[in-house]
Amino acid sequence: MNEIIEKIRNEFLQESKSLKSLQDLEQFRVKFLGRKGLISSAFDRMGEIPKEERPLFGKALNELKKELENRYQTLLHSFKQSDEKKQHPDLTLPGRMPFAGGRHPLLKVADEIKDIFRSLGFSIEDGPEIENDFYNFEALNIPKTHPARDMQDTLYITEDILLRTHTSPVQIRVMQRQKPPIQMIAPGRVYRRDTPDASHSPFFHQVEGLVVDKGITFADLKGVIQAFAHRMFGKDIQVRFRPSFFPFTEPSAEYDFTCVFCGGKGCRVCKNTGWMEISGAGMVHPNVFKAAGVDPEKYTGYAFGMGIDRIAMIKYGIDDIRIFFENDIRFLNQF
Ligand code: DAH
Repeated sequence: MNEIIEKIRNEFLQESKSLKSLQDLEQFRVKFLGRKGLISSAFDRMGEIPKEERPLFGKALNELKKELENRYQTLLHSFKQSDEKKQHPDLTLPGRMPFAGGRHPLLKVADEIKDIFRSLGFSIEDGPEIENDFYNFEALNIPKTHPARDMQDTLYITEDILLRTHTSPVQIRVMQRQKPPIQMIAPGRVYRRDTPDASHSPFFHQVEGLVVDKGITFADLKGVIQAFAHRMFGKDIQVRFRPSFFPFTEPSAEYDFTCVFCGGKGCRVCKNTGWMEISGAGMVHPNVFKAAGVDPEKYTGYAFGMGIDRIAMIKYGIDDIRIFFENDIRFLNQF
């Protein structure tokens, strides 16, 4: 008598461990507690048991039935709960950060430069990266035989077509399509046949500036560069101009900012000079005006260049230009 009860009980406990789903559980319930289940059929076998043992057997069987029903209810409850979790995730759990892209540091700096010049009244212009000899050199007063062509190692596509070595050709394109007054910058990518190292990359980014009107002077140029330096790096930054040479400007200058790292005292970054070279500038050469169809007797103008990569390196304290182009997510994530 006890054997029957124990057998059902053990089987129940054993099988309950391997239940995987609510469907399993339902089959399991039918097998033990259903109308034709093991408990029911044990009751049916009452007749096989000696009469005097029947009340005891009935009682034990009823107790077993109750116990298994309780156990079944517990199992049902926990299966339902885990099923619900699958369908309705717990909204109070902390979220997983989705992987979001971001703007490249060079684009951020370019945006900042654009914002500064826009607020000074400059328009933003654009020109092709694949240029021809006329715009990249000839019109900028750099004839074929001019030694200044050696200043920039050019990547040629054909004898006449090349990857622009600077953004200066946009000056010509804008002067051709627009009458003075002109007050523009042209940010963009430029290419040179350079071997990559910490300060060289075969492509990098420049911003060209051009202002043309009646009565524009070198003082205007200095004022704008000064205003830019203050807005970009802070009020304490000083600007200096050194005489230089570019075929497309006369007079020409190179301009420097006081070192943002040491404030001009001299440090490792500025090689103890206290100054950082930024780029070149000058008054537009009459030959450039002529090539672009602007009357040099009527108008004067200034032009300047600027390296976006260089400004970004100064701003973020980066000492190797190549890191901008490696797309290392650990680097890019910091901006
Ligand atoms: N185009 C020059 C370069 O790539 C930079 C430059 C110098 C631009 C003087 C100018 C300028 O507009 O006036 O090195």
